[in-house]
Amino acid sequence: MFKVAVVGASGLLGRALERELAAQTGWQVVQTAFSRVSAQQVALDVRDARAVEAFVAREAPDAIVVAAAERRPDVCEHDPAAARALNVDAVRHVAAAARARGAWVLSISTDYVFDGSAPPYLPDARPNPLNAYGRSKLEGERALLDATDHALVLRLPLLYGPIVNWQESAVTSLVPAIRASAKAGSAPAVMDAWATRYPTFTPDVAFVIRELLTRCADGDAVRGLAQWSGDEPMTKYEIAQRIARALGIDARLVAQTEPADATPRPRDCHLDSGRLEALGIGKRTPFDAGIRAVIDAFEAEYGGAQP
Ligand SMILES: NC(=O)c1ccc[n+]([C@@H]2O[C@H](COP(=O)([O-])OP(=O)(O)OC[C@H]3O[C@@H](n4cnc5c(N)ncnc54)[C@H](OP(=O)(O)O)[C@@H]3O)[C@@H](O)[C@H]2O)c1
Repeated sequence: MFKVAVVGASGLLGRALERELAAQTGWQVVQTAFSRVSAQQVALDVRDARAVEAFVAREAPDAIVVAAAERRPDVCEHDPAAARALNVDAVRHVAAAARARGAWVLSISTDYVFDGSAPPYLPDARPNPLNAYGRSKLEGERALLDATDHALVLRLPLLYGPIVNWQESAVTSLVPAIRASAKAGSAPAVMDAWATRYPTFTPDVAFVIRELLTRCADGDAVRGLAQWSGDEPMTKYEIAQRIARALGIDARLVAQTEPADATPRPRDCHLDSGRLEALGIGKRTPFDAGIRAVIDAFEAEYGGAQP
C-alpha cells in the first residue's frame, strides 16, 4: 500500500493536507509534529538527523511531504542560524534518509526566493531572495535537489486557510486591526498597498499536493521545480477591504504606498503555475469565498473567545 509521511502536519498547510489525505482511500498516512503533537501524530524534531533517519527507516514511506519550516520572515531575519537549521539542514536530513529508502520527497518552498522585480516567474527564473527567509528557503531547495533527483520543490505564495488563531496566516492576522478600526473613536488601520500578493487557499494547495502524490503512487512522480499560486492579485490593503466586506463591517483603512516593513520584502513575486496546469493539476477557490469560509469556521469554533 502506498505510504505517505507528512512532516509538519500541525501547521497551517500541514493540517489542510491532513484533511485532504483523510479523504483518500487506499493510502497509509503517517504525520509528524513538533510542539503540537496530537494523538494521531509522531513527535519528530526534523533538525535531528538521526531522528529523521530512524523515522524514515521505521515508517518506510514511499513519499514524504515536508511542510515543516520557519516561515516568519522577521524571525528568520533575527535568527538566520535557527532558520537555516529548519529550512536548510532539516531538508537535507530528509533528503538523505529518503534517498536511502528510495522515497519521493515533496518539499514546500516560497515565492520569496525571487526579488519581485520581474513577475511572473517561471520555475527556472533566476532566484534573488531579498531576505533571510527567502535565502534559507532557496538553500533548502538546492539541498533537496542536489541530494536526490526523486524529489519536487513546490513553491507557494502567501497562504491562508483554516486557522487556530488569527496570527497563523499573514492574511487573517489583519483581522484584529481591521475590526478595531471600525470601532467608534479608534484610529484607522494602516495597510500595505505597495506589494502585490496572490493569496492562496491551503485546501487548494492540499488538493494539488494530493494530485502530485497520486502521480507518484502511479509511478510517474513529478520532479524538479513546480509552482502553484492563486490568480487574484491584491495588496494587503485590498485584502483588508475584502476581509472587512466579509465581516460586514465599516472598517477605516489607510493605504500605505511605500514599503514600511523592517524586513525587506519583494514587490510582486507572481508565480507562474503553468507547469502543473499543463499536467491537468490545480484548483482555485475565489478569495472572497475562501476567506468567508475561514472566518465563519473560526468564529463558529471559537466564538468571542478568539485566541
Ligand atoms: N504561510 C505562508 O504564507 C507560506 C507562504 C509560502 C510558503 N510557505 C511554506 O509553506 C510551508 C508550510 O508553512 P506553514 O504556513 O504551514 O507553517 P506553520 O504553520 O508555521 O507550520 C510549521 C510546521 O513546522 C513544524 N515544525 C516547527 N519546528 C519543527 C521542528 N524542529 N521539527 C519538526 N517540525 C517542526 C511545526 O510543528 P509544531 O507546530 O508541532 O511545532 C508546524 O507543523 C513552509 O515550507 C513555508 O515556508 C508558507
